[in-house]
Amino acid sequence: MIELVEGDLTAQRVDVVVNAANSSLLGGGGVDGAIHRKGGPEILAECRDLRASRYGGGLRVGQAVATTAGRLPARWVVHTVGPVFSASEDRSELLADCHRNALRVAAELGARSVAFPAISTGVYRWPMESAAEIALGTVASVLAEQPFDIVRFVLHGKQAFDVFSAEAARRGLIAS
Ligand code: APR
Repeated sequence: MIELVEGDLTAQRVDVVVNAANSSLLGGGGVDGAIHRKGGPEILAECRDLRASRYGGGLRVGQAVATTAGRLPARWVVHTVGPVFSASEDRSELLADCHRNALRVAAELGARSVAFPAISTGVYRWPMESAAEIALGTVASVLAEQPFDIVRFVLHGKQAFDVFSAEAARRGLIAS
């Protein structure tokens, strides 16, 4: 079932929290910064191990990989790299891949509850309306095949929440 809340992703008591990371996996601002700040050094330590092993060249856009959630009230963080918005190149499929792959990794872990931020809509400048269409459309189609108890979108600020709510209502995903 899909839920929308306005709040802080790092406070979510779920199995998996999805991080809007960058290819380095070594932290950043926004959601990435909040997760590392509140989750503590264990998360970065595992990210460094991933860079030293399977992901020497970094995580590609649209890929997803799991680490511990450290001190967060979650069991795992699934890091994914969103596409930077481009007005000249349609990168929608890459943004959809972030959601598909994050849910695939979460299912492999046995997670039953997942919380997403609005991937790519901050530093990577993806317009909120388009991101809501892609995120909700992709998650709804994955859930038809791969049921989770909860997939929650945690929106930062009223504008983001209102845009996602309107799109969810348009798709009949949430009782409006
Ligand atoms: N909880 C929920 N949402 C948040 C939080 C939070 N604590 N902090 C920020 N956001 C929202 C932003 O308002 C935005 O709508 O998450 C969305 C994604 O924004 P960013 O975190 O900037 O992520 P993104 O646009 O995908 O850019 C990724 O930014 O932080 C760096 O290292 C990261 O290089 C990467 C890039």
